[in-house]
Amino acid sequence: MTNTKTICVCGAGTMGSGIAQVAAQAGFQTIQFDLNPEMVAKSKQSINAGLAKLVEKGRLTADEQAGIMNRILFTTDAKECKADMIIEAIIEKKEAKISLFQELAAINNSETILATNTSSIAVTEIAEALPNPERVVGMHFFNPAPLMKLVEIISTHKSSATTIEQTMAVTKQMQKTPVLCKDAPGFIVNRVARHFYLEAMRFVEKEQAVVEDIDQLMEASGFKMGPFKLMDLIGMDINYSVSNIVWEALGKPSRLTPSSVQREKVEAGELGRKTGKGFYSY
Ligand SMILES: NC(=O)c1ccc[n+]([C@@H]2O[C@H](COP(=O)([O-])OP(=O)(O)OC[C@H]3O[C@@H](n4cnc5c(N)ncnc54)[C@H](O)[C@@H]3O)[C@@H](O)[C@H]2O)c1
Repeated sequence: MTNTKTICVCGAGTMGSGIAQVAAQAGFQTIQFDLNPEMVAKSKQSINAGLAKLVEKGRLTADEQAGIMNRILFTTDAKECKADMIIEAIIEKKEAKISLFQELAAINNSETILATNTSSIAVTEIAEALPNPERVVGMHFFNPAPLMKLVEIISTHKSSATTIEQTMAVTKQMQKTPVLCKDAPGFIVNRVARHFYLEAMRFVEKEQAVVEDIDQLMEASGFKMGPFKLMDLIGMDINYSVSNIVWEALGKPSRLTPSSVQREKVEAGELGRKTGKGFYSY
């Protein structure tokens, strides 16, 4: 059982919007916060559309859809971010995450759980920069959050047993499968999967194979999505940033060197589905 009643999700992008939907669907009073009003409006629209699809499929009633939407407060005002648990899914920059948590720690009580959805930043470094580091935890959802079952729960040497228990209980109430993992570069999935992306891009870099063929072959061999389609879904900037952080954190081994193909995409603003162009056009 969880004592958590209210969840504030910071960041209304790809992940934040999905996590806010999951939280509200699981019955939590939810606050969806982003500094950018356009992103807040987009999140409201996309959550409503996601729920409407479930109504069409007969998995929700129209009343339930309305109830879930009513449980979410959409805001651009950080002062409204008061909750039992805060899950941040803002840009993948350590300083930004720390500064947001510091601001929110000042207006919340000392037991409010501060959960980061970072893909690659050391949760320990975030915890150490905050008051009451025992309530800081990693809560790593996968994309798209409403569909993907797995959530990595990352503990630091400072995380309290209560924080971990509560976070596991919240994750289960969200109908997700929590997997506990100690703080380590890339956690489990992003570390192991790095080669899936990097080796595929090496083929393209050396002009030994093309994007479409590699995706098709990987899908034929059993993967749900080929590496290039998946990078477009994740967001090129996010995936490139994870590659850099994991590579640096492990002492820059050559096997994990980030790809120039991906760097060029990021520099060109071709970030994948969210910008309409990545390895594919949308
Ligand atoms: N994209 C993925 O597949 C994926 C998967 C797991 C985890 N993550 C992690 O989730 C986080 C968000 O990724 P995303 O893909 O949703 O990014 P995104 O670019 O889609 O969204 C980020 C949002 O954060 C907002 N933002 C930036 N600074 C803010 C601040 N200080 N306060 C409030 N809002 C702020 C932006 O306006 C934007 O709407 C990152 O830490 C990323 O590593 C991403």
